[in-house]
Amino acid sequence: MCGIVGYVGPKQAQGVVLEGLRRLEYRGYDSAGIALVDGGAIASDKRAGKLVNLEKAIDEAPLPQSTTGIGHTRWATHGAPNDRNAHPHLGRERRVALVHNGIIENFARLRAELEAQGHEMLSETDTEIAAHLLELEVDAGADLTVAMQRVCSRLEGAFTLVAIDAQDPDRVVAARRNSPLVVGLGEGENFLGSDVAAFIEHTREALELGQDQVVTITREGVAVSGFDGVPAEGHRYHVDWDLTAAEKDGHDWFMRKEIYEQPRAVANSLLGRRAADGQLHLDEMRLSDQDLRDIDKIIIIAAGTSFYAGMVAKYAIEHWCRIPVEVELASEFRYRDPILKHSTLVVAISQSGETADTLQAIRHARVQKSKVLAICNTNGSTIPRESDGVIYTHAGPEIGVASTKGFLTQLVACYLLALYLAQVKGTRFGDEIAQVMDQLDKMPAHIRAVLDQAEEIYALAREHVDSRSVLFLGRHAGYPVALEGALKLKELAYIHAEGFAAGELKHGPIALIEDGLPVLCVVPPRGRDFLHDKMVSGIQEVRARGARTICLAEEGDTSIEPYADVLIPLPSVPVLLQPMVAVVPLQLFACELATAMGHDVDQPRNLAKSVTVE
Ligand code: F6R
Repeated sequence: MCGIVGYVGPKQAQGVVLEGLRRLEYRGYDSAGIALVDGGAIASDKRAGKLVNLEKAIDEAPLPQSTTGIGHTRWATHGAPNDRNAHPHLGRERRVALVHNGIIENFARLRAELEAQGHEMLSETDTEIAAHLLELEVDAGADLTVAMQRVCSRLEGAFTLVAIDAQDPDRVVAARRNSPLVVGLGEGENFLGSDVAAFIEHTREALELGQDQVVTITREGVAVSGFDGVPAEGHRYHVDWDLTAAEKDGHDWFMRKEIYEQPRAVANSLLGRRAADGQLHLDEMRLSDQDLRDIDKIIIIAAGTSFYAGMVAKYAIEHWCRIPVEVELASEFRYRDPILKHSTLVVAISQSGETADTLQAIRHARVQKSKVLAICNTNGSTIPRESDGVIYTHAGPEIGVASTKGFLTQLVACYLLALYLAQVKGTRFGDEIAQVMDQLDKMPAHIRAVLDQAEEIYALAREHVDSRSVLFLGRHAGYPVALEGALKLKELAYIHAEGFAAGELKHGPIALIEDGLPVLCVVPPRGRDFLHDKMVSGIQEVRARGARTICLAEEGDTSIEPYADVLIPLPSVPVLLQPMVAVVPLQLFACELATAMGHDVDQPRNLAKSVTVE
């Protein structure tokens, strides 16, 4: 949802800003723009479409040299994705330039006020008014920092703003409310970014800002204050991954690289969770064992792929811990007046830690006095900061818009939470927990074994470039896998795809089956015979009606052979853990099919990586 960058220091700002935008482009790619301070004036360019359009324009009409600049890559909310609505936006006299991520909810009233004073707006965005308001303040004598504090106090909604003033060439000022912003701390230079990827090439020292704060960066330092001007301090931290993690490393797409990183990501996610005495420890969790013993109900809230991880968690927690679990889309939860108590634990799952729907949902839960535990991949992001505890997933940065290693490591965190609750509540014994942990420790090797079949899966995917519709079936923990497989295909290949619980087929969806329709079936392992056999019946039913059945089944499961047009063997794992291996072929399938169709896998149309607006 929009990437923003700011720089001040000895280097050419254009290069630093464009490079930062390239690394943040996954956040939105409807347009890109840059503004530089140029000897008392602002030099700026902005173009609809991907960053490459802006780079081409700058090649043709170079911008002046400057060491102070800001940049933006946009996911459009207010106003069509065209040149005019692209950021930066300038004040009336072109003295102030500003970029914005979020939504200014009271912009219409402020715009009317400005227009009544004779200001003419050049765009349809909610952002431009902020540039005009800032410029009015600096024209009246405020410095840019004070101007930002005053303007932010008048704004409602969610926003990160970053601005420069042509007459104050060595200062970049930013502010945040409900929208991400981090400061990169360099030597004689400082940076701003929506996330650390924007400046990881230059520094791994970062400063996290609180809600409703303004930050001023100069070459010499960084100053933080509240919107009320009272000085404040950010939280300094060291980023534990480096530039190579933010590069494609020889792969054609970040997504493909991230699929292949999954064995390592899962291993990292499991690292250090089991003490020498065999007990599980979730260090960052911050909830006491007594808090957890008091819990009599869990509500998991999340969006998209993270929601499907939550569905798997429900099966695991209910089975291992005997605690009732509800799983709900964050966007629905918030607005249905949910009943929460002190003894309800709300678990918020979010890769980015910035999803607005999930954030609003946890705020609602905390107001109702429930404890909130975040499962999150992004250190220092808003959701874990506003939660009572957190389990970090340690997947490393996920840049491909479609979540892959984020999902697998969320599953690990969900299993760990379930096992930890079982340990604390005493619903499972030490040796049972140890057995599951042993099986989890084998997961990286199992995932590697699935990845070894990539070429066969790619060939299969390429056979389906002309498919108009693909269905996915699963049961039990395989049902969320079917939903996730369908989501991956929809978002990457733009093909109609739907996931169904296999048992629901005869209640309607079976009417969709026609000759040659590809149906991917996640077959439960044979250990649970009743589940397995029911799934096999479902497969027979769709095949009898002409479907082309592509079955993902435990290796050695010969019972499925007569009904499978294509068989993809999966390592033998318990049913509750099967999602971790079953989803991998579906990721490979969607990635390759979208590639074969000529789509941009890392930047699918209409999407953005972190959805920071409701
Ligand atoms: C799909 C995908 C999205 C996200 C969803 C939630 O591949 O990535 O569905 O899972 O937008 O995002 P987070 O987990 O960042 O809250």
